[in-house]
Amino acid sequence: MIVSKLPQVGTTIFTTMSQLAAECGALNLSQGFPDFDGPQTLREAVCRHVIAGHNQYAPMIGLPALREQVAAKIERCYGRRLDETREVTITPGATEAIFCAVQALVQPGDEVIVFDPCYDSYEPAVQLAGGRCVHVPLSLPNFAIDWERLEAAINSRTRLIILNSPHNPSGALISRAELDLLAALIRDYDIHLISDEVYEHLVYDGAPHASVLAHEELYARAFVVSSFGKTYHVTGWKTGYVVAPPDLTDELRKVHQFVTFCGITPLQWALADYMSAHPEHVDELPAFYQSKRDLFCDLLKGSRFAFTPTPGTYFQLVDYSAIRDDLSDVEMAEWLTREHGVASIPVSVFYQEPPQDLRLLRFCFAKREDTLRQAAEKLCRV
Ligand SMILES: Cc1ncc(COP(=O)(O)O)c(C=O)c1O
Repeated sequence: MIVSKLPQVGTTIFTTMSQLAAECGALNLSQGFPDFDGPQTLREAVCRHVIAGHNQYAPMIGLPALREQVAAKIERCYGRRLDETREVTITPGATEAIFCAVQALVQPGDEVIVFDPCYDSYEPAVQLAGGRCVHVPLSLPNFAIDWERLEAAINSRTRLIILNSPHNPSGALISRAELDLLAALIRDYDIHLISDEVYEHLVYDGAPHASVLAHEELYARAFVVSSFGKTYHVTGWKTGYVVAPPDLTDELRKVHQFVTFCGITPLQWALADYMSAHPEHVDELPAFYQSKRDLFCDLLKGSRFAFTPTPGTYFQLVDYSAIRDDLSDVEMAEWLTREHGVASIPVSVFYQEPPQDLRLLRFCFAKREDTLRQAAEKLCRV
């Protein structure tokens, strides 16, 4: 008999909704990935490097050229000068970086605070390390940190807090002032942070991204994680990075070394070339995705869904209570896929205990203009 280490883990809603979308021939705005390709020169660079023979193991900590580009970008965006040898590690996706950071820090019996709704990879990583997630719900409707509840959740067993800004699924941003509050709150505790910033360049309406990398006190105890997949429209490349002070990086690398050892070599070469030739890519990203958000939101104004344009990420939440208040969000997502041909993700799946009256769906707008127009047209008929 197998005693499962993750008994509660089954097929995720992302797989379920994508399968249902395929079955029904529905437009798939559920899973978070673009339906367009990354830059052609970036893709051509991979081919070039494969042909040039860059096909063996990369260094365990990542190619020097790519770590240098990451450090240069971070200095440009957040004003922090890093030692790319001791503080930057390239990983096969942000997911592996998060997993390794959790394994590096969490001991059996430790508690890890996550904010609900939260990304689904955090809790299994904590459980496999022998820790326990303490779920602190964000306050609605803005998905802001509830400081009283956070303070009440912190105790001497708390080892780690996992932040995610811009936030999946809500798009909410944590401000610099909130980072200051957090720093004050954990100052006297032995608590570390994982700051999941995979959507760092997807912030709109001129808002800045308050990175933990730009916060002296918090960075001293943090792993900051990002994803080239999100930033360069190549989620299938599963390539990301983690930045942390040298003592934390040392511990993370001890785990990373035996989980995957290294990221994929030709992808790292290609990303290094592209970042060096196109530093402007990240500066242009907010406008690129904001125009998709604005198009989708403008078109949805003709529908019965209620929403506020998202401040970040490529996800737009909509409230459907004026349409089918009788349905739970899981039922609504299924109904919408089957009856109206548009797949989404119900927000309750990101919660340990979803609020009873939650009537929110998440749509991914990282899609071509014609996909967004077709989806909105269908949604306006609901
Ligand atoms: C909040 C968040 N963190 C991490 C990831 C994983 O990133 P990667 O594909 O680089 O592993 C995702 C992907 O959807 C995400 O939404």
